[in-house]
Amino acid sequence: MKRLDGKVAMITGAARGIGRVFAEAYVQEGATVALADIDLPRAEASAAEMGDRAFAVKMDVTDQASIDTAIAEAQRRGGKLDILVNNAALFDAAPIVEITRESYDRLFAVNVAGTLFTLQAAAKAMIAQGDGGRIINMASQAGRRGEALVAIYCATKAAIISLTQSAGLDLIKHRINVNAIAPGVVDGEHWDGVDALFAKHENRPLGEKKRLVGEAVPYGRMGTAQDLVGMAIFLAGPESEYVVAQTYNVDGGNWMS
Ligand SMILES: NC(=O)c1ccc[n+]([C@@H]2O[C@H](COP(=O)([O-])OP(=O)(O)OC[C@H]3O[C@@H](n4cnc5c(N)ncnc54)[C@H](O)[C@@H]3O)[C@@H](O)[C@H]2O)c1
Repeated sequence: MKRLDGKVAMITGAARGIGRVFAEAYVQEGATVALADIDLPRAEASAAEMGDRAFAVKMDVTDQASIDTAIAEAQRRGGKLDILVNNAALFDAAPIVEITRESYDRLFAVNVAGTLFTLQAAAKAMIAQGDGGRIINMASQAGRRGEALVAIYCATKAAIISLTQSAGLDLIKHRINVNAIAPGVVDGEHWDGVDALFAKHENRPLGEKKRLVGEAVPYGRMGTAQDLVGMAIFLAGPESEYVVAQTYNVDGGNWMS
């Protein structure tokens, strides 16, 4: 018996990166998984590598109609919806005096409003099904404290920790457990972009910021998406039934809380 046998999950932002690795892990644990992403061709290519229990769904988490359509499609193709992983997010970096409203609006639209209204649509579907559910939000160590060049992203991830608490407290009466994962620094395409932004703003050669943040992790290296899989399965599975409204750090020891 696998831990997610018979479950149906939707993972937003699953075309690549952490979401893609979670999708693969959930399929291996027995779940049927909808890979929901604004980049449909890449989500389709990723799903195709995971076998019959994975499928791609077009979804823009900034668009309510797209959220509703994607949730309905995941329910129709999977037969129900038991698990949502709110994973889609954007990053940006700039000194405070250079931050633009465009960057603020874009990051809050995807990271905060996208998470809240996808969570809401999934919760409505789960309440109507009447059999509880699991919602996992992707926070970050960036939500635990500010960073000089990362004000907007940090604020969006602090908002995710707060929304996880409020939604967790409200939805547990429906036996929907809402929790979050706060990763540290996770290598991959996302961090290639982060590294390039730090190279620009801190006048560093490409790759140097990655090396420095990796060396600063108490564990001794940057994380990988695979390092987060155990927590993602735990929070989606039967062993976390009594875990409510929490945010778990999975960061090699970067943050204590
Ligand atoms: N990589 C890290 O170091 C790190 C650290 C802490 C937290 N996180 C969080 O983990 C999650 C995944 O990170 P990642 O590194 O895999 O990121 P990533 O950039 O590799 O992947 C993000 C995915 O989201 C999709 N996406 C973007 N906008 C979208 C939209 N409007 N609607 C639907 N999908 C959209 C992208 O197409 C992409 O597939 C994010 O929430 C991120 O903030 C990452």
